Amino acid sequence: MVKLNNNVDIPELGLGVYKINEEDVERVVNTAIEAGYRAIDTAWFYKNEKALGHALNKIDIDREELFITTKLWNDFQGYDETIKAFNDSLESLQLKYIDMYLIHWPCPEDNLFVETYQALEKLYKEGKIKAIGVCNFKEHHLEKLLAETEVVPAVNQVEFHPKFNQKELQTYCESKGIKVMAWSPLMRGGEWLDNPVLKNIAEKYNKTVAQVIIKWHIQQDRLVIPKSQNDNRIRENFDVFNFELSDEDIIEIDNLHTNERQFRDPDDVKIGDMK
Ligand SMILES: NC(=O)c1ccc[n+]([C@@H]2O[C@H](COP(=O)([O-])OP(=O)(O)OC[C@H]3O[C@@H](n4cnc5c(N)ncnc54)[C@H](OP(=O)(O)O)[C@@H]3O)[C@@H](O)[C@H]2O)c1
Repeated sequence: MVKLNNNVDIPELGLGVYKINEEDVERVVNTAIEAGYRAIDTAWFYKNEKALGHALNKIDIDREELFITTKLWNDFQGYDETIKAFNDSLESLQLKYIDMYLIHWPCPEDNLFVETYQALEKLYKEGKIKAIGVCNFKEHHLEKLLAETEVVPAVNQVEFHPKFNQKELQTYCESKGIKVMAWSPLMRGGEWLDNPVLKNIAEKYNKTVAQVIIKWHIQQDRLVIPKSQNDNRIRENFDVFNFELSDEDIIEIDNLHTNERQFRDPDDVKIGDMK
Protein backbone atom coordinates (compact mmCIF):
# COMPACT_ATOMS: atom_id res chain seq x y z
CA MET A 1 0.00 0.00 0.00
CA VAL A 2 1.09 3.54 -0.72
CA LYS A 3 -0.32 6.76 0.74
CA LEU A 4 -1.65 9.38 -1.61
CA ASN A 5 -1.30 13.08 -0.79
CA ASN A 6 -4.66 13.08 1.02
CA ASN A 7 -3.71 10.08 3.19
CA VAL A 8 -5.82 7.63 1.20
CA ASP A 9 -4.15 4.22 0.74
CA ILE A 10 -3.75 2.79 -2.73
CA PRO A 11 -2.23 -0.56 -3.73
CA GLU A 12 0.96 0.02 -5.72
CA LEU A 13 -0.04 -2.69 -8.20
CA GLY A 14 -3.46 -2.86 -9.84
CA LEU A 15 -5.05 -4.50 -12.84
CA GLY A 16 -5.66 -2.44 -15.99
CA VAL A 17 -8.74 -3.53 -17.92
CA TYR A 18 -8.43 -1.60 -21.20
CA LYS A 19 -9.54 -3.78 -24.12
CA ILE A 20 -11.00 -6.47 -21.90
CA ASN A 21 -14.32 -7.43 -23.43
CA GLU A 22 -17.44 -7.39 -21.29
CA GLU A 23 -17.80 -11.17 -21.49
CA ASP A 24 -14.31 -11.70 -20.06
CA VAL A 25 -14.53 -9.22 -17.20
CA GLU A 26 -16.05 -11.49 -14.56
CA ARG A 27 -13.48 -14.25 -15.06
CA VAL A 28 -10.61 -11.74 -15.13
CA VAL A 29 -11.81 -10.01 -11.95
CA ASN A 30 -12.23 -13.32 -10.12
CA THR A 31 -8.74 -14.47 -11.12
CA ALA A 32 -7.24 -11.14 -10.13
CA ILE A 33 -8.93 -11.01 -6.74
CA GLU A 34 -7.84 -14.57 -6.01
CA ALA A 35 -4.27 -13.68 -7.00
CA GLY A 36 -4.29 -10.78 -4.54
CA TYR A 37 -5.13 -7.70 -6.63
CA ARG A 38 -7.34 -5.17 -4.88
CA ALA A 39 -7.04 -2.27 -7.34
CA ILE A 40 -8.70 -2.15 -10.77
CA ASP A 41 -8.24 0.57 -13.35
CA THR A 42 -11.04 1.12 -15.85
CA ALA A 43 -12.52 4.08 -17.74
CA TRP A 44 -15.76 5.07 -19.41
CA PHE A 45 -13.85 4.72 -22.69
CA TYR A 46 -13.11 1.01 -22.07
CA LYS A 47 -16.82 0.17 -22.32
CA ASN A 48 -16.61 -2.36 -19.51
CA GLU A 49 -17.73 -0.37 -16.44
CA LYS A 50 -21.11 -2.17 -16.39
CA ALA A 51 -19.54 -5.60 -16.61
CA LEU A 52 -17.04 -4.62 -13.94
CA GLY A 53 -19.85 -3.42 -11.67
CA HIS A 54 -21.64 -6.70 -12.18
CA ALA A 55 -18.48 -8.71 -11.37
CA LEU A 56 -17.65 -6.59 -8.30
CA ASN A 57 -21.17 -7.02 -7.01
CA LYS A 58 -20.69 -10.78 -6.97
CA ILE A 59 -17.33 -11.03 -5.18
CA ASP A 60 -17.15 -11.61 -1.47
CA ILE A 61 -14.77 -8.81 -0.44
CA ASP A 62 -15.46 -5.74 1.68
CA ARG A 63 -15.89 -2.64 -0.43
CA GLU A 64 -13.25 -0.81 1.67
CA GLU A 65 -10.65 -3.37 0.60
CA LEU A 66 -11.09 -2.54 -3.07
CA PHE A 67 -9.66 0.42 -4.94
CA ILE A 68 -11.63 1.18 -8.09
CA THR A 69 -10.42 3.83 -10.52
CA THR A 70 -12.36 5.13 -13.48
CA LYS A 71 -11.93 8.10 -15.79
CA LEU A 72 -13.86 10.99 -17.28
CA TRP A 73 -13.87 10.68 -21.06
CA ASN A 74 -12.80 13.62 -23.25
CA ASP A 75 -16.22 14.09 -24.83
CA PHE A 76 -17.72 14.85 -21.40
CA GLN A 77 -15.32 17.59 -20.37
CA GLY A 78 -16.98 20.72 -18.95
CA TYR A 79 -18.44 21.24 -15.46
CA ASP A 80 -22.04 20.00 -15.85
CA GLU A 81 -21.17 17.24 -18.30
CA THR A 82 -18.54 15.93 -15.90
CA ILE A 83 -20.99 15.69 -13.00
CA LYS A 84 -23.40 13.77 -15.23
CA ALA A 85 -20.69 11.46 -16.62
CA PHE A 86 -19.45 10.73 -13.11
CA ASN A 87 -22.94 9.77 -11.96
CA ASP A 88 -23.35 7.52 -15.01
CA SER A 89 -20.06 5.74 -14.21
CA LEU A 90 -21.03 5.37 -10.57
CA GLU A 91 -24.30 3.77 -11.63
CA SER A 92 -22.64 1.46 -14.18
CA LEU A 93 -20.14 0.34 -11.56
CA GLN A 94 -22.97 -0.15 -9.01
CA LEU A 95 -20.89 1.72 -6.41
CA LYS A 96 -21.73 4.30 -3.74
CA TYR A 97 -18.36 6.00 -4.19
CA ILE A 98 -15.38 5.74 -6.52
CA ASP A 99 -11.91 5.44 -5.05
CA MET A 100 -10.25 7.48 -7.73
CA TYR A 101 -11.63 9.50 -10.63
CA LEU A 102 -9.25 10.83 -13.25
CA ILE A 103 -9.51 13.19 -16.23
CA HIS A 104 -8.52 10.90 -19.12
CA TRP A 105 -6.71 13.44 -21.34
CA PRO A 106 -6.10 17.17 -20.87
CA CYS A 107 -7.23 18.11 -24.42
CA PRO A 108 -5.46 21.45 -23.96
CA GLU A 109 -6.71 23.03 -27.19
CA ASP A 110 -10.27 22.70 -25.95
CA ASN A 111 -9.29 24.49 -22.73
CA LEU A 112 -11.89 22.80 -20.52
CA PHE A 113 -9.73 20.81 -18.14
CA VAL A 114 -9.80 23.40 -15.33
CA GLU A 115 -13.60 23.53 -15.09
CA THR A 116 -13.71 19.75 -15.56
CA TYR A 117 -11.36 19.35 -12.61
CA GLN A 118 -13.46 21.79 -10.57
CA ALA A 119 -16.37 19.38 -10.99
CA LEU A 120 -14.12 16.60 -9.68
CA GLU A 121 -13.28 18.82 -6.69
CA LYS A 122 -16.98 19.24 -5.94
CA LEU A 123 -17.60 15.48 -6.09
CA TYR A 124 -14.52 14.88 -3.96
CA LYS A 125 -15.71 17.34 -1.31
CA GLU A 126 -19.09 15.61 -1.29
CA GLY A 127 -17.33 12.31 -0.50
CA LYS A 128 -18.34 10.62 -3.74
CA ILE A 129 -14.68 10.18 -4.74
CA LYS A 130 -11.83 9.33 -2.34
CA ALA A 131 -9.07 10.75 -4.53
CA ILE A 132 -9.05 12.84 -7.71
CA GLY A 133 -6.43 13.18 -10.36
CA VAL A 134 -5.50 13.34 -13.99
CA CYS A 135 -4.00 11.31 -16.81
CA ASN A 136 -1.62 12.32 -19.56
CA PHE A 137 -0.89 15.74 -18.07
CA LYS A 138 2.47 17.23 -18.99
CA GLU A 139 4.20 19.67 -16.68
CA HIS A 140 2.69 22.73 -18.35
CA HIS A 141 -0.84 21.32 -18.01
CA LEU A 142 -0.23 20.65 -14.33
CA GLU A 143 1.18 24.14 -13.79
CA LYS A 144 -2.06 25.64 -15.09
CA LEU A 145 -4.20 23.22 -13.09
CA LEU A 146 -2.32 23.84 -9.85
CA ALA A 147 -2.56 27.61 -10.32
CA GLU A 148 -6.31 27.60 -10.97
CA THR A 149 -7.71 24.87 -8.71
CA GLU A 150 -7.62 23.94 -5.01
CA VAL A 151 -7.10 20.21 -4.57
CA VAL A 152 -3.68 18.97 -5.69
CA PRO A 153 -4.23 15.89 -7.91
CA ALA A 154 -3.37 12.68 -6.08
CA VAL A 155 -2.19 10.93 -9.24
CA ASN A 156 -1.04 11.64 -12.78
CA GLN A 157 -1.44 8.47 -14.85
CA VAL A 158 0.89 8.61 -17.85
CA GLU A 159 2.52 6.44 -20.49
CA PHE A 160 5.62 5.08 -18.76
CA HIS A 161 7.73 2.06 -19.68
CA PRO A 162 11.42 1.32 -20.33
CA LYS A 163 11.25 2.78 -23.84
CA PHE A 164 9.50 5.95 -22.70
CA ASN A 165 10.81 6.76 -19.26
CA GLN A 166 9.27 10.02 -18.11
CA LYS A 167 11.65 10.51 -15.19
CA GLU A 168 11.63 14.30 -15.37
CA LEU A 169 7.87 14.42 -15.27
CA GLN A 170 7.92 12.02 -12.32
CA THR A 171 10.39 14.27 -10.46
CA TYR A 172 8.17 17.27 -11.13
CA CYS A 173 5.03 15.43 -10.01
CA GLU A 174 6.70 14.22 -6.84
CA SER A 175 7.82 17.75 -6.01
CA LYS A 176 4.10 18.68 -5.97
CA GLY A 177 2.98 15.59 -4.03
CA ILE A 178 1.48 13.92 -7.10
CA LYS A 179 2.04 10.16 -7.54
CA VAL A 180 2.86 8.89 -11.00
CA MET A 181 0.93 5.87 -12.21
CA ALA A 182 2.39 4.05 -15.22
CA TRP A 183 0.06 3.14 -18.08
CA SER A 184 1.21 0.64 -20.72
CA PRO A 185 3.80 -0.30 -18.10
CA LEU A 186 4.76 -3.40 -20.14
CA MET A 187 4.84 -1.50 -23.46
CA ARG A 188 1.79 -3.59 -24.38
CA GLY A 189 3.90 -6.77 -24.41
CA GLY A 190 5.23 -7.79 -27.80
CA GLU A 191 8.81 -7.54 -28.96
CA TRP A 192 10.03 -5.89 -25.76
CA LEU A 193 9.57 -9.07 -23.83
CA ASP A 194 12.47 -10.44 -25.95
CA ASN A 195 14.83 -7.59 -25.15
CA PRO A 196 18.23 -9.16 -24.24
CA VAL A 197 18.96 -6.73 -21.38
CA LEU A 198 15.60 -7.43 -19.78
CA LYS A 199 15.89 -11.15 -20.44
CA ASN A 200 19.30 -11.28 -18.74
CA ILE A 201 18.02 -9.51 -15.67
CA ALA A 202 14.94 -11.74 -15.55
CA GLU A 203 17.07 -14.90 -15.71
CA LYS A 204 19.19 -13.68 -12.82
CA TYR A 205 16.15 -13.52 -10.54
CA ASN A 206 14.36 -16.49 -12.07
CA LYS A 207 11.53 -14.16 -13.02
CA THR A 208 9.90 -13.16 -16.30
CA VAL A 209 10.61 -9.95 -18.19
CA ALA A 210 7.11 -8.70 -17.36
CA GLN A 211 7.75 -9.26 -13.65
CA VAL A 212 11.06 -7.41 -13.87
CA ILE A 213 9.45 -4.42 -15.57
CA ILE A 214 6.63 -4.31 -13.02
CA LYS A 215 9.18 -4.43 -10.20
CA TRP A 216 11.23 -1.68 -11.85
CA HIS A 217 8.15 0.56 -11.63
CA ILE A 218 7.35 -0.35 -8.04
CA GLN A 219 10.92 0.13 -6.80
CA GLN A 220 10.95 3.58 -8.39
CA ASP A 221 7.78 4.59 -6.53
CA ARG A 222 5.41 4.44 -9.44
CA LEU A 223 1.95 2.98 -9.17
CA VAL A 224 1.52 0.38 -11.89
CA ILE A 225 -1.49 -1.18 -13.64
CA PRO A 226 -0.46 -3.93 -16.10
CA LYS A 227 -3.33 -5.30 -18.17
CA SER A 228 -3.86 -8.97 -18.83
CA GLN A 229 -6.91 -11.03 -19.64
CA ASN A 230 -4.99 -14.28 -19.43
CA ASP A 231 -5.40 -16.07 -16.09
CA ASN A 232 -1.75 -17.19 -15.89
CA ARG A 233 -0.38 -13.80 -16.83
CA ILE A 234 -2.70 -12.04 -14.37
CA ARG A 235 -1.19 -14.21 -11.62
CA GLU A 236 2.34 -13.83 -12.99
CA ASN A 237 2.12 -10.04 -12.96
CA PHE A 238 1.15 -10.01 -9.30
CA ASP A 239 3.91 -12.39 -8.25
CA VAL A 240 6.51 -9.65 -7.81
CA PHE A 241 6.70 -9.18 -4.07
CA ASN A 242 9.35 -11.84 -3.39
CA PHE A 243 12.41 -10.28 -5.05
CA GLU A 244 14.24 -6.94 -5.27
CA LEU A 245 16.10 -5.57 -8.27
CA SER A 246 19.60 -4.28 -7.58
CA ASP A 247 20.43 -0.61 -8.20
CA GLU A 248 22.61 -1.67 -11.16
CA ASP A 249 19.74 -3.54 -12.76
CA ILE A 250 17.45 -0.56 -12.31
CA ILE A 251 20.00 1.68 -14.02
CA GLU A 252 20.32 -0.81 -16.88
CA ILE A 253 16.57 -0.69 -17.40
CA ASP A 254 16.58 3.12 -17.15
CA ASN A 255 19.17 3.13 -19.94
CA LEU A 256 16.77 1.40 -22.34
CA HIS A 257 14.95 4.73 -22.69
CA THR A 258 14.66 5.82 -26.32
CA ASN A 259 12.16 8.62 -25.76
CA GLU A 260 9.62 6.99 -28.07
CA ARG A 261 5.98 7.28 -27.17
CA GLN A 262 3.85 4.31 -28.20
CA PHE A 263 0.80 6.52 -28.24
CA ARG A 264 -0.21 10.11 -28.93
CA ASP A 265 1.35 13.21 -27.48
CA PRO A 266 -1.23 14.60 -25.01
CA ASP A 267 -0.85 18.09 -26.50
CA ASP A 268 -2.27 16.77 -29.78
CA VAL A 269 -5.35 15.02 -28.41
CA LYS A 270 -8.59 16.97 -28.89
CA ILE A 271 -12.10 16.40 -27.67
CA GLY A 272 -13.98 14.20 -30.14
CA ASP A 273 -10.99 12.89 -32.04
CA MET A 274 -10.72 9.47 -30.37
CA LYS A 275 -13.45 6.90 -30.69
N1 LIG B 1 -4.89 6.86 -18.97
C1 LIG B 1 -4.64 6.46 -20.19
O1 LIG B 1 -4.66 7.24 -21.15
C2 LIG B 1 -4.33 5.02 -20.45
C3 LIG B 1 -3.90 4.60 -21.72
C4 LIG B 1 -3.63 3.26 -21.90
C5 LIG B 1 -3.76 2.36 -20.85
N2 LIG B 1 -4.21 2.78 -19.63
C6 LIG B 1 -4.38 1.84 -18.49
O2 LIG B 1 -3.18 1.13 -18.30
C7 LIG B 1 -3.45 -0.27 -18.37
C8 LIG B 1 -2.24 -1.03 -18.88
O3 LIG B 1 -1.80 -0.52 -20.11
P1 LIG B 1 -1.99 -1.31 -21.51
O4 LIG B 1 -3.18 -2.17 -21.45
O5 LIG B 1 -1.97 -0.26 -22.56
O6 LIG B 1 -0.64 -2.11 -21.69
P2 LIG B 1 0.31 -3.08 -20.82
O7 LIG B 1 -0.27 -3.36 -19.49
O8 LIG B 1 1.68 -2.50 -20.91
O9 LIG B 1 0.35 -4.40 -21.70
C9 LIG B 1 -0.77 -5.21 -21.90
C10 LIG B 1 -0.40 -6.22 -22.99
O10 LIG B 1 0.68 -7.04 -22.52
C11 LIG B 1 0.26 -8.41 -22.48
N3 LIG B 1 0.77 -8.97 -21.23
C12 LIG B 1 0.34 -8.70 -19.97
N4 LIG B 1 1.05 -9.38 -19.07
C13 LIG B 1 1.96 -10.11 -19.77
C14 LIG B 1 2.97 -11.02 -19.39
N5 LIG B 1 3.19 -11.30 -18.12
N6 LIG B 1 3.71 -11.60 -20.38
C15 LIG B 1 3.47 -11.32 -21.67
N7 LIG B 1 2.54 -10.45 -22.10
C16 LIG B 1 1.78 -9.84 -21.15
C17 LIG B 1 -1.26 -8.39 -22.52
O11 LIG B 1 -1.77 -9.53 -23.17
P3 LIG B 1 -2.80 -10.55 -22.42
O12 LIG B 1 -3.98 -9.73 -21.98
O13 LIG B 1 -3.12 -11.53 -23.49
O14 LIG B 1 -2.04 -11.15 -21.28
C18 LIG B 1 -1.54 -7.13 -23.34
O15 LIG B 1 -1.45 -7.40 -24.72
C19 LIG B 1 -4.68 -0.34 -19.26
O16 LIG B 1 -5.35 -1.58 -19.19
C20 LIG B 1 -5.47 0.81 -18.74
O17 LIG B 1 -6.12 0.45 -17.52
C21 LIG B 1 -4.48 4.10 -19.42
